[in-house]
Amino acid sequence: MGTSSSARRNRFPLMLLATVATGLGVYLFTLFFAARLSEGPHTSFLKIPAVALWALLAYFTVRLVNAALFDFAFRIRRGYEAPTLVRNIFTLVIFTVLFVLIFKWFYSEINLGALFTTSAIFGVIIGLALQDTLGNFFSGISLQADRPFQIGDVIVVSQQKHTGVVEGITWRAIKIRTFQNHIVLVSNSNAAKEAIEVAPRDNLNARLIFFSTVYTDSPAKTIHVVREAVRDADNVSEKITPIVRIRNLGESSIEWEIKYWLEDYAKYNDTDALVRQRTWYALRRNGLTFAFPTRTLHLERKVTARPTTAEDEIADRLSAVDVFAPLSTDELRQLAMATVGHVFAPGETLIRAGDEGSSMFVVHNGRVQVQLTESGKSRPVAVLSEGNFFGEMALFTGEPRTASVVALEETEVLEIGHAAMKHLFETNPSLVESISWTIAERRAGLAASAEQATPNSLAESAGLLTSIKRFFGLR
Ligand code: CMP
Repeated sequence: MGTSSSARRNRFPLMLLATVATGLGVYLFTLFFAARLSEGPHTSFLKIPAVALWALLAYFTVRLVNAALFDFAFRIRRGYEAPTLVRNIFTLVIFTVLFVLIFKWFYSEINLGALFTTSAIFGVIIGLALQDTLGNFFSGISLQADRPFQIGDVIVVSQQKHTGVVEGITWRAIKIRTFQNHIVLVSNSNAAKEAIEVAPRDNLNARLIFFSTVYTDSPAKTIHVVREAVRDADNVSEKITPIVRIRNLGESSIEWEIKYWLEDYAKYNDTDALVRQRTWYALRRNGLTFAFPTRTLHLERKVTARPTTAEDEIADRLSAVDVFAPLSTDELRQLAMATVGHVFAPGETLIRAGDEGSSMFVVHNGRVQVQLTESGKSRPVAVLSEGNFFGEMALFTGEPRTASVVALEETEVLEIGHAAMKHLFETNPSLVESISWTIAERRAGLAASAEQATPNSLAESAGLLTSIKRFFGLR
């Protein structure tokens, strides 16, 4: 700004000198040649240098008047520089008028009006070529007439998100200096179309700053402390006291806003930062706390794979299993805690004949079928329902599974592992005997189904008892 006005001032004597020289030239030209030019066959042609010289004189006169009017009179009266666009329009209009007058003076026989009005094609071509330029030009004129902002105001051109200080309005565009010290040119026609937010230079413009405190801090104390800290900050206007107010009772904090007014809005970035800094120190000094995002967590205890049942219910179920009848309530509870529940869909195989196995199962809900597979065909041996158990043969003898077990309907089973059974056997020796009986009986059943010789259950049971004890390391 300063540079351009001083440059203009330096040009002024030069212009004065040029005007005087041109005037002198025209005067001499008229003195020596004008008498001869008014006669003769080439009169019109010879008038050209005279017209050019007069036009030159007119041009410099206009520049002189322009400088006198805008650089001195306007600035002294209004206190700021005249907009470039206004100066340019003034120059153009005056110069056109003078040119027409000169032309008319020398060539009174030529009708200038007719020349322009009759040339329709010329008009169309010019119109098309200057479409954008004229759009910008007329938008510029309307901006000047409307005066929505002035040089030095901060504006935000909303759609293009340009913010900065207005440096000038030209034929074509509004020139903004952004806060990163870049120049942005927004064309006048674009600016005329969209919303422009203006923070006038001579206006008290406000800003909002946000922060959050914890719920345990007193709002009244926060308001007092922050307001007092902010009002002293540089560039915060003393004319209006800053406002500190609760914006929202948030999920994990009280959300605040500080509204303050600035002396010089163009410095709002620095002032915002200072206000935030003052707020931090004020809160720190007064034992108030900025809020961090917090959450109340309800921890869910990890449950075992048992889907629906509670321990008591399982202990009840186990107490109904005939082999577990000798167990005390405590032992049943312990066993219940050691079980793992599994749910099977109808048709799913729970145990496959020939597989290794180290656990037994109690049917908690539903029904399963024990099947033997012979020459590729499965043959049912038994159906077991709630309170029955299976899988004990492999668990207690260490042999492979003797049969397959398939769910007949949706079935929930309770799995009992080797460790849990070993513990029970140590405290309940009679349990080994009853289980040996069950196994012996089932073996007999399997043999019958397979049409083999039925083994002697009694002798079988005695043999099993010994091998189970050995397998479990019992005496
Ligand atoms: P296991 O051999 O571990 O795996 C297959 C299971 O089928 C077996 O243990 C027994 O629990 C069960 N089972 C085998 N034969 C019969 C039967 N005759 N009656 C009932 N259940 C049986």
